[in-house]
Amino acid sequence: MNPFRFYNPTQLVFGKDTVSELGSLVAPYGSSILLVYGGGSIKKTGLYDKVKEQLASIHATVHELSGIDPNPRLSSVEKGVQICRENGVQFILAVGGGSVIDAAKGIAAGVPYEGSVWDFCTRKAQVQKALPLGAILTLSATGTEMNGNAVITNWDLKQKRGMGSIHVYPRFSILDPTLTMTVSKEQTANGIVDMMSHVFEQYFSQTKDTPLQERLCESILQTVVENGETAVREPNNYEARANLMLCGTYALNGGMISVGMQNDWASHDIEHAISAIYDIAHGAGLSIVFPNWMKYVYNARIDRFVQYAVRVWGVDPAGKTDDEIALAGIQATRDFFTRIGAPATLSDVGIGDESLDVMAADAVRFGPLGSFRKLEQQDVRSILEMSL
Ligand code: NZQ
Ligand code: ZN
Repeated sequence: MNPFRFYNPTQLVFGKDTVSELGSLVAPYGSSILLVYGGGSIKKTGLYDKVKEQLASIHATVHELSGIDPNPRLSSVEKGVQICRENGVQFILAVGGGSVIDAAKGIAAGVPYEGSVWDFCTRKAQVQKALPLGAILTLSATGTEMNGNAVITNWDLKQKRGMGSIHVYPRFSILDPTLTMTVSKEQTANGIVDMMSHVFEQYFSQTKDTPLQERLCESILQTVVENGETAVREPNNYEARANLMLCGTYALNGGMISVGMQNDWASHDIEHAISAIYDIAHGAGLSIVFPNWMKYVYNARIDRFVQYAVRVWGVDPAGKTDDEIALAGIQATRDFFTRIGAPATLSDVGIGDESLDVMAADAVRFGPLGSFRKLEQQDVRSILEMSL
């Protein structure tokens, strides 16, 4: 196990009707609020009215930024920064899925910074301070509700990049599983793939002697598998939605499940290169890429893939070679993604072979990917070819 530091300042407020606590959670931060939300799901579900009621109860002045797209655009973030500066906003409230919360983080970091928020994504600048923000999560997937990451798309450059800072952890996140019951089957499946992928990025590691972290990862994966199909089949099943919500939050909350372990993140970088051009859902891209990444790299540390197959999928090792066990675990992953309705190939989402080189080059823009097995541009291209 490697040395580590772990710090996570986000307060979780979990349970049915916890939106009723919003007023008291926001009040300490001031009365000028920027409310950030997406394309309207929160209006359809009635959540918007509840939020406005809560903010009215503390006499807040509310400015709004709506229409945050999935794969949030830099242009929306810049618009939010401008609204905050013009109106002396003191607190940002994000109500929605990962895209909305990520956009809010970009805005929070951008307000006190003189340059472009894109500088944080290209590593030209580090976030030194940010406006405080809070979140009401409506879609279980990214973990952004309890981490310091944001992923922003620069549509002009066709690039999607992450930024990260301790300063943009939400001060609180309201997690009411009933708010996720209106998420479509497709988005529910994408979210399931995303949270499992977050665990994979940490679990498939070359770091040795990390038994607790490995079991934490495996327990999240098993819990997602146990509850995922139920949530897709029965959208109003509270227990399934609640368990998924907690899994999504724990899967990527500043690295709690993988402290002291080297992470990989190559598959995420490859997915971001795909959705930067084709604007597909993040989870859909991961569903296509991850099992192929697994097949491409499993020999770099086959014992971890054998452990995964046996412990997570219950593959019976008797009479099988390590290769057979590892590949059975990878196939079980693909089969599960297919059972919940997630795509398996680029052609499933209408993508051909026309941009493989562009995507491979973009993915390795900052150097080779990953650490489980380092991937050069040609490796990324091979994984994309396997994904056609
Ligand atoms: O825009 P609205 O109308 O709200 O609709 C959204 C959107 O169309 C809808 N939705 C959300 N909650 C709903 C709902 N529909 C009905 N009922 C509800 N309760 O779902 C659609 C997708 O929303 P989005 O926020 O884009 O999904 P997700 O939460 O999967 O976020 C994806 C983004 O997060 C990034 C991804 O790359 C992508 O840009 N990621 C962020 C991470 C982080 N900050 O730590 C890590 C991840 O790996 C990921 O990269
Ligand atoms: Zn992800």
